[in-house]
Amino acid sequence: MKEVTGAVTLRLMKKDDIDQVLLIEQCSFPAPWAKKAYLGELENKFARYFVILDKGRIIGYAGMWIFAGESHITTIAVHPDYRSRGYGRMLMMALIEYSKGHNAGTMVLEVRESNISAINLYSSLGFKRIGLRRNYYIETQEDAIVMLRHLKQENESGGRV
Ligand SMILES: CC(C)(COP(=O)(O)OP(=O)(O)OC[C@H]1O[C@@H](n2cnc3c(N)ncnc32)[C@H](O)[C@@H]1OP(=O)(O)O)[C@@H](O)C(=O)NCCC(=O)NCCS
Repeated sequence: MKEVTGAVTLRLMKKDDIDQVLLIEQCSFPAPWAKKAYLGELENKFARYFVILDKGRIIGYAGMWIFAGESHITTIAVHPDYRSRGYGRMLMMALIEYSKGHNAGTMVLEVRESNISAINLYSSLGFKRIGLRRNYYIETQEDAIVMLRHLKQENESGGRV
């Protein structure tokens, strides 16, 4: 994928990024992933992870699995000092554009019921609530809202004119 540069840089995550990613992970999630999990994800041929950098420092990341015509968003986080500046939206757009370019028809994700910032972000990008997974987050016994966005019609209508 082509790198996007400007005030910040957006590119695919590399192994050398993981230590910086973990610093954000640890202050963003009640049950942060360990280094081993990210190492495994970067080896997973169905997974794609992106990072945003500001002057060489990682300030956010997001990832997903793409298979069987569906993208499943696995994570997204922005460093607390950089939130509410549009970087979460930028990361989501990167996932959406990548998914459209790789023939995904739908995108799906889970989000904590209490995570209003994330729910607002996903809703503003066209994700709709389609279900609830009870006690999905074991560490807090919180339910997950399942959200879905269709991409196929957008891809198809693009080629009709
Ligand atoms: C969720 C998260 C990635 C959003 O990143 P961000 O860079 O702060 O988001 P953006 O600045 O791009 O905001 C995009 C939209 O998200 C929503 N949003 C962001 N922060 C919000 C807040 N504090 N309150 C309510 N809505 C908020 C808004 O809809 C916003 O659009 P707007 O600016 O037009 O109002 C970030 O809060 C985060 O890292 N949270 C911790 C990790 C996490 O919960 N990840 C999601 C797991 S499902």
